[in-house]
Amino acid sequence: RPKVTVSTLQKLHDAGTPITMLTAYDYPTALVSSRAGIDILLIGDSMAQVALGHHTTVPLTLDDMIYHTRAVVRAASAASGGSGVPGAGGPFILADMPFGYAESSVRDGVLAAVRLLKEGGADGVKIEGGRELLPLVQRLTESGVPVMPHIGLQPQRAAATGYKVQAKSASAAADLLETALELQEAGAFGLLLEAIPHPVATAISKRVAIPTIGIGAGPHTSGQVLVLTDMLGVYDMRPTPPEEMDEPEAHSVGALEGLAGDALPRPGARHGADVGVIPPAGEVAPPKAPKFVRQFGAVGLETRRAVDAYIREVRARSFPAIGKETYAMPKDQLEEFL
Ligand code: KIV
Ligand code: NA
Repeated sequence: RPKVTVSTLQKLHDAGTPITMLTAYDYPTALVSSRAGIDILLIGDSMAQVALGHHTTVPLTLDDMIYHTRAVVRAASAASGGSGVPGAGGPFILADMPFGYAESSVRDGVLAAVRLLKEGGADGVKIEGGRELLPLVQRLTESGVPVMPHIGLQPQRAAATGYKVQAKSASAAADLLETALELQEAGAFGLLLEAIPHPVATAISKRVAIPTIGIGAGPHTSGQVLVLTDMLGVYDMRPTPPEEMDEPEAHSVGALEGLAGDALPRPGARHGADVGVIPPAGEVAPPKAPKFVRQFGAVGLETRRAVDAYIREVRARSFPAIGKETYAMPKDQLEEFL
């Protein structure tokens, strides 16, 4: 597949073709989406929570982000038949700016973005913020660094703002629209809109000429993104009652829809201290997810089912099976050996 570039994304936008984006954090998560033909892979700092077990996105370092971006770039390149050279083909690689750099100064923000491109192999950077980002967006654009501001709900500020739907009042919505126009003017190649009322996202998407990617922003943005582990149901790993073993999806797909209202627990908020902790046997309460998540898969349940089965079969000595899963040796050699 030819490399997805800023110009490819603008063309998709202009043609009214929805842009697809998912998070990826490592080689396998990037490979599957690349092979499926995703347009953008986001190395989101949600990785701090859903892949590294932190409570928030704040602890993620620039070095962490570069390390994971490199793995994603290798997968995207491999999937597109490339040689492993960054940029050889495949999806647009968008790296999140970890907390603390854009906030410090334009210089710190530029240096961090440059490292994400030079060392990480990213094609562009996503940066949380609003109007205060204008000088940095302008400087990056002048330097040829594609930048996508992330407006609306900004998880890096959750300590101050909580996980709340943004721009619900007329004045806040008007302000967000104005911010979007100013960021476009400063050179942003696209905008990420998180957790805002869908009519506000629709209005912004109509007014700007660049692609908008929504999460919790309704169907009328130029594209959509979800956190991969949310949509796969990775963390829904309830032990499966034996009678339901054959159809794990029956009680999982879509089960999270409509659970949460305006308070938006992020992956780490529900998984922070609990990451990797197997729920007590018999527990059936589904994990809380933001309202905007649709669970397209039941990977967590399937993983739990497989691990349960592995433990059972090893304990029963029914795995490995002689012949099918073992190596033999020539009969004469065996007799001599014994
Ligand atoms: O870090 C992330 O995964 C994100 C998405 C929620 C857009 O920023
Ligand atoms: Na993020």
